[in-house]
Amino acid sequence: MKKGTGVFLVLALALAAILVAGCGGAKGTADSKQAPEKIIAKFSHVAAPSTPKGLAAQKFAELVKERTNGRVEIQVFPSSQLYGDKDEFEALQANNVQFIAPSAGKLISFDQRFQIGDMPFLFKDNQGASRFWDSEAGKKLMKSLESQGMVGLTSWPNGMRQFMNSKKELRKPEDFKGLKFRVPAGGVLVDIFQALGAGAVTLPFSEVYPALQQKVVDGTIATFDNIENEKYAEVLNYLTVANVNNLSYIVIANKKFWEGLPSDLRGTIEQCLKEATEYERQLADKLDQESLAKLKQKIKVYELNPEERQAFVQAMQPVWAKYEPVIGKDLFEEAQKLNK
Ligand code: LMR
Repeated sequence: MKKGTGVFLVLALALAAILVAGCGGAKGTADSKQAPEKIIAKFSHVAAPSTPKGLAAQKFAELVKERTNGRVEIQVFPSSQLYGDKDEFEALQANNVQFIAPSAGKLISFDQRFQIGDMPFLFKDNQGASRFWDSEAGKKLMKSLESQGMVGLTSWPNGMRQFMNSKKELRKPEDFKGLKFRVPAGGVLVDIFQALGAGAVTLPFSEVYPALQQKVVDGTIATFDNIENEKYAEVLNYLTVANVNNLSYIVIANKKFWEGLPSDLRGTIEQCLKEATEYERQLADKLDQESLAKLKQKIKVYELNPEERQAFVQAMQPVWAKYEPVIGKDLFEEAQKLNK
C-alpha cells in the first residue's frame, strides 16, 4: 500500500467514526429532522382535578396532544402534587414546570397590581372578571410578568368567594370580631378581614383542610366549587353567601420555554388554550351552581339580603381607600366600567 493511501484511509475511518457518533445525538441529524424531538411540558396547579381549572387543564393537554399529533405532550399535575402555593413560582421561573395557574392575587410579590383580583365588591361575577382580564388593561398587567421570566396567557374564572366558618352564622360585619380566617395571599385579603375586626393567616391551599380540622383557623374565604371539592363542609358549619370577590386564575407559562417553541407549534398551542379557556369559562358557571346546590344539602347556607350586603360594602371602604393608590385609579376605573 502506498504511504499516501494509508494516511487517507486513516482519515476516512476517523471521519466515519465521528459521523456515526454524531448520529447518536438528538439534534442536527437528518434523522432528527424527520422525527423531531417530542416536547414535554408540565402544567402544575393546586386545585382538584374535578374543578373548572382541573378539567380545563386536562382539556388543554388533550387538545394539544391531538392537534400536534403527539409531538407536544402536556402533563397535568393537580392538587399540589408537584408544586404547591409556596414553590410553584420558583419552579416556573426555573423552568422545572412550564405552566401554572394561580389566582391573580397570589402574584402580589411580582406586581402589587394583581391584587385587583382580590378587591372586595369590584367584580360582579365571572363574566365581569373575564371582561377585565381580556381587556387591554388586563393584558397589559399580565404582560408585566415578562420582566420576571413569565408570560401571562389568559384568565380562567372560578366563581365568587364566600365566607365560611365553624363558630356561628355570619350576617353582619360585627359577627366577624375575634374570628380567625385562612386567606390565599396577603394584602387585600388580610385587610378585608381586618376591616371586619377578624384575624387572617395566609396558608397554602393544600394546608387549609387540616388547619380547619385542627382549628388553627375558624374559617376561610372560598368559592362554592373549592368548598365542595375540598370537602370543607366536613369541618365547617356555616356558609354565608356574600359574593365578596372573584376568584380568577392567570394561566402563566415560563417565558423561555414559551418563546423557544417553534412558531407553528406555539400558534397551535395558543389556539388550544383559547378553546380550553372557552370550555373553562362555560364550565365555571355551571359547576359553581351545582356545587352550591350540593352544599345546601350538607351545611347551613345563609344568603345575605341586599341591605345586609350593603353593610359589608360599606365596611370595605378603608380597603378601597388603601388599595386605590397601590393598584392604580386607571385599573380600578377600567374594572368598574366593565362591571356595571
Ligand atoms: C386558594 O388558594 O384558595 C385558591 O386560589 C386555590 C385554587 O387554585 O383554586
